[in-house]
Amino acid sequence: MSGDPDGYFTEREFPLHYYPAVAPAHLRCLSVLRNRRPLCLEQPFRFLDLGCGSGFTTSLLAAVYPESEFVGIDLIPDHVLKAVDRAKSIGLPNANYIEASFQDVVETSSGELGTFDFIVCHGVLSWVDTVTRENIYEILQRHLRTGGLVYMSYNSMPGWAAFEPARHLVQQLAESPGSFATEPPTKAALDYLGLLRQEQAGFFRDNSAAALWLDRLADKPQSYLEHEFRPRHAAALWHDRLAKTELPYCLDYLGSARLIENFDSLCFSNELQVYLDKASNAGLGETFRDFALNQSFRMDVFSRGAPIVNAETGVENFRNLGIAKLKDLSVPLTIRTPRGNIPVAGELGNIVAEAVSDGPTTVGEVIEQAKNHGADPEESQKALVAMIAGGLVEPLLTNRPKQISLDACEAFNEFGRRQVYLEQERWPAFASAFLGAGVRMSEDELVAYCNGEALGERAHMLHGVGL
Ligand SMILES: C[S@@+](CC[C@H](N)C(=O)[O-])C[C@H]1O[C@@H](n2cnc3c(N)ncnc32)[C@H](O)[C@@H]1O
Repeated sequence: MSGDPDGYFTEREFPLHYYPAVAPAHLRCLSVLRNRRPLCLEQPFRFLDLGCGSGFTTSLLAAVYPESEFVGIDLIPDHVLKAVDRAKSIGLPNANYIEASFQDVVETSSGELGTFDFIVCHGVLSWVDTVTRENIYEILQRHLRTGGLVYMSYNSMPGWAAFEPARHLVQQLAESPGSFATEPPTKAALDYLGLLRQEQAGFFRDNSAAALWLDRLADKPQSYLEHEFRPRHAAALWHDRLAKTELPYCLDYLGSARLIENFDSLCFSNELQVYLDKASNAGLGETFRDFALNQSFRMDVFSRGAPIVNAETGVENFRNLGIAKLKDLSVPLTIRTPRGNIPVAGELGNIVAEAVSDGPTTVGEVIEQAKNHGADPEESQKALVAMIAGGLVEPLLTNRPKQISLDACEAFNEFGRRQVYLEQERWPAFASAFLGAGVRMSEDELVAYCNGEALGERAHMLHGVGL
């Protein structure tokens, strides 16, 4: 590994983490909602995770898509060891991990790594320096296939403006041993800020959002906070700078992996939308939206030439989309949006909720059922877009997974249950061959699942009970 690749904080492992937005089924759904030709997930594909941490997400996805290949790259040897051990214990030959810096990858391995249909980079870009970001872009340029998708999430402006100064305090404390002798610098800095807040120091008096940040960070594990604040070059980014001046020209912005953010009418009041519409180009439009949302974390998806489909094909792709529900849909249905809860159009909401209650289905089938109840197909389509974007229903990969995928998911989930039960390990999600993604559980559900009890909708998605 080359010296100090980027001033990244490597003294402690990052906690196990599942990031659902990178699941191929989710990204395929985004392509459909954005009228792009979706990648075919029935054929084997290749998936690269840059800065994979200890590889939890890639191992879960490797179980879900056992015929596809997953590669994770990370700088921290303990992360890679953990990832390799987990994949070996579960029996996931299609999950491979490489201990390397991005610079190593650029300098050495190019040919061997091959090309990928998906390259994801979750929570890395805004924690590293410019040279490291350039290395990441070089990897995208060399290793993303035509038609492939890139997902990149990062701390963003203007949402971080209120709390960015806290990072300076952490860094300075880290460089001033003795000030808080026994405390890790991040804890010391946050505690110190807590005291300043209590005494209504100017930073908090003049900057009321900073107090909300302190509250929000209160229950985060220490190791998460160290990785958040300690990397030496960490700083929130602006989307337009990244998209316009940093990224390879071959990538174009497809949309936000937080599906709802792609629909202004769901996120913003009519009055605000009038001002957003004044943007003269797409980059400025995103900056306007970031101000409207006070965005602090972006989840951007870019494509390398995924073709835009015509309106007819777009509707057909949407109608073919599989959907399922993961939670009780009590009526009247409301969607949580950045502008508050909004209702799904009255009777139509009931019809749609009833249609998905019978088990996984497709958007087209729901629209037909609604039509039989007298609903206008266009209105039903709008309601379904809102329900999918708002997370009331989940995109489905297939309602008939291959046995190989059911077996791999069961092996992954069984291993997870054992880790929770015997090792008291935090297990962020379980694998569903139906959803083509992970399923996160509440504490109660986790206990029930580990005790072999039924889980309602979630059991359907994990085991296909009753499908
Ligand atoms: C905040 S963690 C995110 C981990 C994982 N993506 C997740 O969200 O759970 C950032 C990861 O990027 C890795 N990383 C940082 N700089 C790197 C570099 N130059 N080369 C390779 N990996 C790097 C770190 O080791 C760390 O695991």
